[in-house]
Amino acid sequence: MKQEIDIARVLCALEDLPDGGCRGFTAGEGDWPLRGLLVRVGDEVRGYVNRCPHAGHPLDLLPGRFLSPDGALILCSSHGALFDKLTGSCIAGPCAGRSLRAVPLRIVDGYVMLADDVDVTALAEDRL
Ligand code: FES
Repeated sequence: MKQEIDIARVLCALEDLPDGGCRGFTAGEGDWPLRGLLVRVGDEVRGYVNRCPHAGHPLDLLPGRFLSPDGALILCSSHGALFDKLTGSCIAGPCAGRSLRAVPLRIVDGYVMLADDVDVTALAEDRL
């Protein structure tokens, strides 16, 4: 049976997120929507809040540039923290051992969507 798609929870089409790629997203409304990023590794897709656990800066000082030069890791361009794509764990830099805040996702009919239980407002307001 085909699942209904709640268009408000769609973040992107899976085909718009190539293997190894990353892209930002905005969800919710108002002046302070949830800003996040999506990363894909093979068939796996992860979502994270776009806020570094070191000093709370957005990871992409240059909008949409989330990855290390070789594309292997997520990079915070403020002070150089590096994060594993699949776990969000900081593996080097000033917040080593801490993690990006995960945004639960689901894939439905080729679309990357927020999971049903994600409270967009709570995630957007969360302070580290
Ligand atoms: S704010 Fe990300 S490394 Fe400092």
